[in-house]
Amino acid sequence: MSAPWESTDPILAIETSCDETSAAVVIGRKVLSNVVSSQVELHRKWGGIVPEAAARAHVESILPVIEQALADSGVGLGEISAFAATNRPGLVGALSVGVTAAKALAFARSRPMYGVHHLEGHIVSPFATFSGDNQPIEPIFPHMCLIVSGGHTELVWVEAPRVYKVVGQTIDDAAGEAFDKAARLLGLGYPGGAALAELALNGNPSRYKLPRGKAESDLDVSFSGLKTAVMRLVEAAGQSLERSDAAASLQQAIVDALNYRVAIALDRFPEAKAVTLVGGVAANYCLRAAIGDLCHMNSIPFLPAPTELCTDNAAMIGLAAGISLALRETDGPDIDVFASAPLPSQ
Ligand code: KG4
Ligand code: ZN
Repeated sequence: MSAPWESTDPILAIETSCDETSAAVVIGRKVLSNVVSSQVELHRKWGGIVPEAAARAHVESILPVIEQALADSGVGLGEISAFAATNRPGLVGALSVGVTAAKALAFARSRPMYGVHHLEGHIVSPFATFSGDNQPIEPIFPHMCLIVSGGHTELVWVEAPRVYKVVGQTIDDAAGEAFDKAARLLGLGYPGGAALAELALNGNPSRYKLPRGKAESDLDVSFSGLKTAVMRLVEAAGQSLERSDAAASLQQAIVDALNYRVAIALDRFPEAKAVTLVGGVAANYCLRAAIGDLCHMNSIPFLPAPTELCTDNAAMIGLAAGISLALRETDGPDIDVFASAPLPSQ
C-alpha cells in the first residue's frame, strides 16, 4: 500500500494514552483541527505522572476537547465517517477514557471505530499536512524512524505503511526520561527536557566528559550509566558546577548516543530513502541538527515531525487510523486497551 491517505472521509481521533487529552479531525493526511489539553501542571507537583490523577483529568477534559476539535475543524459530528482512539500502549485507566468516548460516538452514529497503536501515530506524524502548508512532506518508504519520547526510545524500520520492524531500542531509560532525570539533578523541575535544552544553549558541550550509552547490541542504547555519571558529577562539583556546561555536555551525550545508532542503522539498511524523527524529544534542536547532518552526509531527506506534533496529539492518531480506513479494516465494539503491545505489522 503506497498511498494510504487519499481518503476524503473525515476521521475524529482521540489520544489519552498518557498525560495529554487530545482530539483532532483529519481527512487523509490533512489536519483540520488538533486540540491538546496538557496535564503537565497537574503532575508537576508530584514530579512525575500519577496514573489515577491522569485518568481523572482525562474524564474532565475529554468532552470539551472533542467539542473544540469539531468546532475548529468546521466539520459537524454527523459528517464524521469514522472514530479512532489510541488503545495501546499506555496507562490503561487513561486509555480507557479515550477509547470509551470513541466507542460511544461510533455506536451512536453507526460508524466504524479504530483502535490505534500510539507509536504508529508518532511514526506517521511527519507526513501530516496543515492548511497553508506550502511544501507538504510526501511520505517516503522505506525509511528509518527514530522515536524518542518520555516513555519510548525505538529505532523502527518502516518498510511501508503498517509494516514496521523494531531494530533497536533502549535497554533501560527512554531518552526523554534521561533528559528529565538529569534536569531534576540540575534543579530544573519536571519535565525538564525543554528547560535543559534551553540552559544548554549557552553551555560548552565538551566541558564535562559523560558516557555515550553503549549497550550489548549496537543498535540498542542505554542511558542508566549516564544518569549515574550526572549524579556523580553534581555531587563532586558541588557549588562549582557550571550548570549550563553540564546541561550542554549532557545533551550532547544523549544526542551522540542516538545519532550513533541512526548512523549504524543507515549502514545496515542502505535501502533507506529517508530518516524521520518523532516524539517529544524530537523537538530538541541539537538532536534535529545532528540527525539532519547525518542525513545530509548520506544524501537522503531528513523528515522530523512538525514541532507541534512532537508531543502527544490526536492528529497523528487520525493519520494512523487513515491506514486502517485504506485497508478497509474495522475494529469491533469490544475493542480493549493494553498497557503494552507490539507495533502492528501486516
Ligand atoms: O512524546 P512526549 O510528549 O510524551 C511521551 O509520550 O512520553 O514526550 C515528553 C518528553 C519529556 O521527557 C520531555 O522532557 C521531552 O519529551 N522533551 C524534550 C524537549 N521537549 C520535550 N527533551 C529534550 N529537548 C526538548 N526540547
Ligand atoms: Zn507519545
